[in-house]
Amino acid sequence: MSVFAEAPEPDPEAAEAGRLLFAGPVAFLKGVVEMPALPPADRLEVCFAGRSNVGKSSLINALTGRKALARASNTPGRTQEINYFSLGEQRYLVDLPGYGFAEAPKAVVARWQELMRAYLAGRVTLRRAFLLVDARHGPKPVDEEIMTLLDRSAVTFQAVLTKADKPGASDLAAAVAATKATLAKHPAAFPEIIVTSSETGRGLATLRATVADLA
Ligand code: GTP
Ligand code: MG
Repeated sequence: MSVFAEAPEPDPEAAEAGRLLFAGPVAFLKGVVEMPALPPADRLEVCFAGRSNVGKSSLINALTGRKALARASNTPGRTQEINYFSLGEQRYLVDLPGYGFAEAPKAVVARWQELMRAYLAGRVTLRRAFLLVDARHGPKPVDEEIMTLLDRSAVTFQAVLTKADKPGASDLAAAVAATKATLAKHPAAFPEIIVTSSETGRGLATLRATVADLA
């Protein structure tokens, strides 16, 4: 049996801590286009990484209940900077540019890809990377590449399936199984998978509680 499992529902206390954290102050801080411009590494941060269009920005909006905090769109390559949001006084949420296909000029895409990789490999206060995977498809080779980078940098990452409202039950189960099999190959993988939908709210309480629990 795999040690990887779907994260359980948070207990009421943990759920309430998550709810309170995300209902509190959240603000856009800055968009960063080069590593030296990162804010001072003075608090813990979590980031949302994943292929272009997987739903990173939408998930930040859904978690915070602010519809247009992070810019989301149907055009792959919408997020082109490392976007910092403050969550309360002690945490940053970080929205990353996607990897994989993007509708932008090649040289430009190469620049943010390099920045995104440098960030994932070298941000000392990055406490956990949420690695978003489309619930219709499961992990792709490019996701595995990023997982390997996180292994090498010893950054704990947690798989979050997105758009769980889209696949039918059997396709979703197949994507969960494929994700578990992939995670088993990666030492930096956190053992629980969170299944989410920014449309229906599925999994959001679990994810909020997870972020709140990081001390
Ligand atoms: P980049 O910034 O381009 O890398 O994309 P992203 O990962 O930030 O994706 P974004 O949040 O912009 O969402 C991409 C598209 O997927 C948008 O059209 C969203 O409305 C849609 N989407 C995101 N999350 C969900 C979801 O949970 N369910 C459904 N049905 N659609 C979603
Ligand atoms: Mg985005």
